[in-house]
Amino acid sequence: MLSILVPGGHGQLGRELAERASVVRAPGSAELDITNAGAVIEAVSTLAESAAGDGHSPVVVNSAAYNAVDAAETDATRAYAVNADGPRLLAAACAAANVPLVHVSTDYVFPGDGDRPYETDDPVRPRSAYGTTKAAGEDAVLGSGARAWVVRTAWVYGAFGGNFVKTMARLAATRDTVSVVDDQRGSPTWTGDLADGLLALASSVASGDGPTSRILHCAGGGETTWFGFAQAVFEELGLDPARVHPCTTAEFPRPAPRPAYSVLSDRAWREAGLPPMRPWREALATAFAEHGEHFRA
Ligand SMILES: NC(=O)c1ccc[n+]([C@@H]2O[C@H](COP(=O)([O-])OP(=O)(O)OC[C@H]3O[C@@H](n4cnc5c(N)ncnc54)[C@H](OP(=O)(O)O)[C@@H]3O)[C@@H](O)[C@H]2O)c1
Repeated sequence: MLSILVPGGHGQLGRELAERASVVRAPGSAELDITNAGAVIEAVSTLAESAAGDGHSPVVVNSAAYNAVDAAETDATRAYAVNADGPRLLAAACAAANVPLVHVSTDYVFPGDGDRPYETDDPVRPRSAYGTTKAAGEDAVLGSGARAWVVRTAWVYGAFGGNFVKTMARLAATRDTVSVVDDQRGSPTWTGDLADGLLALASSVASGDGPTSRILHCAGGGETTWFGFAQAVFEELGLDPARVHPCTTAEFPRPAPRPAYSVLSDRAWREAGLPPMRPWREALATAFAEHGEHFRA
């Protein structure tokens, strides 16, 4: 059996992992600050000792992140501390305690100027401060000597925490029409499916081998634009999707540039024998069937 530590345990993914794993400690940032070296070493060594005592396999799944993409442009020091220094400390503690680490990263490490799904070994070239700090976190984890895997995901939403689906529901309740960008393509990812995928990977790495590829992509199947995603959310809410209007990124300037195309290839994930992710539209329907009350404004 697995004993899992989930730093960032109060975030939308962290809470989903905590719901779905059987033996799990999922501390919030107040309980475990991943930028605090002493706290990180203590948390990982406690995990290793308690797992050994219980005859379990210990794994750390890092779900902590500075995720405010626009704020990171002017708060890069803090974003770097959480997205790069924190993972470096976690990986060093995991290496010292011989605990495998699964670290979650993002499609925003890619520039977004491609026209086919990004493979795990495509060069990263982030365009935003957030993406830059996440790419530095990937390097720190992979260069640490720990048995570590980086899992990039994208466009995450779930029952817990704020996200695009909840924003659309809120706007739908207050406006007749909503304009949403139709020139950024990616893959919406439900935390339920992502958590199940990460737990399957955690089992695989805890069993001793784990995938050969140390970078994996795990996102909802298929692709769409934010406009297409918004229309699907309206459909799930029982509202007229024609109330969603397409617009361009240029019409909605934001502090941080977004990749225009950030679809992630699941080739390495499938080759590792991990469960394929279902199409994003099907996952959205399941998320509403299971957690509809959380998504409605
Ligand atoms: N959300 C997306 O669309 C998206 C897309 C691609 C990849 N990802 C990646 O997916 C992972 C999970 O994201 P999420 O959507 O679950 O994010 P989230 O809801 O913002 O959760 C992140 C958690 O990290 C915690 N945290 C921040 N600083 C910390 C620190 N110093 N020590 C410990 N915890 C800290 C936050 O706690 P506080 O609130 O208390 O600070 C928050 O609960 C992240 O690696 C993210 O980069 C997310």
